[in-house]
Amino acid sequence: MIMSRVRKCKIAFFLLLYMMAVALYVHHSQYNTVSFSKPEKSRVCSCPQCLTDGDPWFWELINSAPQPFLSEDYETSEDDFKWWKWEKRNFTLYNATLSKLFQVIPRVPGVVGSSPDRCRTCAVVGNSGNLNGSSYGSLIDGHDIVIRMNRGLTKGYEEDVGKKTTHHVMYPQSAMRLDNSSRLVFVPFNIYDLQWLENKFNPNNRIANKDLVMILNPAFMRYVHEAWLDKKGRYPSTGFIAVALSMQMCDEINVFGFGADRDGNWNHYFEQIKNKKLRTGPHAGNHEYTIIEELHNKEKIQFFGKGQG
Ligand SMILES: *[C@@H]1O[C@H](CO)[C@@H](O)[C@H](O)[C@H]1NC(C)=O
Ligand SMILES: *[C@@H]1O[C@H](CO)[C@@H](O)[C@H](O)[C@H]1NC(C)=O
Ligand SMILES: *[C@@H]1O[C@H](CO)[C@@H](O)[C@H](O)[C@H]1NC(C)=O
Ligand SMILES: *[C@@H]1O[C@H](CO)[C@@H](O)[C@H](O)[C@H]1NC(C)=O
Repeated sequence: MIMSRVRKCKIAFFLLLYMMAVALYVHHSQYNTVSFSKPEKSRVCSCPQCLTDGDPWFWELINSAPQPFLSEDYETSEDDFKWWKWEKRNFTLYNATLSKLFQVIPRVPGVVGSSPDRCRTCAVVGNSGNLNGSSYGSLIDGHDIVIRMNRGLTKGYEEDVGKKTTHHVMYPQSAMRLDNSSRLVFVPFNIYDLQWLENKFNPNNRIANKDLVMILNPAFMRYVHEAWLDKKGRYPSTGFIAVALSMQMCDEINVFGFGADRDGNWNHYFEQIKNKKLRTGPHAGNHEYTIIEELHNKEKIQFFGKGQG
């Protein structure tokens, strides 16, 4: 009786030891996985703080994006093609038009991903009148990547908006001629837009350097609309697309020239507005602006808004 009690105690004791060992081991290996997977997931740059540090939801959101630009061997799904709301022509034609385009422009766009030994900074420069008198020019030019959009000129406005442009986001109706060293980030909304681009590389009608063209993947625009904008507005604006793109290209993001000016007008720094109640067209302008402010408040991006200049 006594012996078996001692034995039971012994067994219980060893069982306890064993459980503690298992618990320690599990705890230890959990700790290991966490500290092992974290650098892979978030420490992907050499800046003091990288865009995807911290909040897993943010990391997920950025990493759930489809590839931002079309390449020759990427196959757009028919579903993504049909998401182009005003396109009535067929997928086969889309396919053929792209194939033709890739005979002229690079088959693989030059996209450089994050790297642990690099800190890439991005300035996303909108065209808001709040840049007027800001003196942000040299600050903007100090970024590795400077993304401008639509009719965003620099000539004559260098002091406020800078003069460097590495990427320029535009669609046919908002297009301007780019210099030979800027990348054209082309945003198509239908097959006509792709056909328009096809004719823009002959010497007397040249819109950009044909070696530096990147075509936005329709699936990426859809992702921005659904994952970022909760399907508000018909399409995301060029400005918001530029912000979303910067999150695929940069480790640190500063946003300039978005939103209204000091007087509450949504005008451009390069033109006087005639209609003071200018609306934001088919875009959910206010919603987009709120999200950009939210990203700023969460310290994901830095937003240089009105009146800070
Ligand atoms: C697609 O459209 C083109 C031109 O609009 C037409 O010639 C072709 O027959 C269509 N193909 C299919 C599969 O519907
Ligand atoms: C689109 O083009 C690719 C290659 O260029 C081809 O493999 C695919 O079958 C085409 N799809 C359609 C619907 O034409
Ligand atoms: C533009 O750059 C390309 C190289 O990407 C070069 O071949 C071409 O001559 C340049 N054109 C002009 C007008 O400078
Ligand atoms: C920019 O600001 C200056 C000085 O306040 C003003 O005279 C000019 O009209 C403004 N430009 C635009 C495009 O609003």
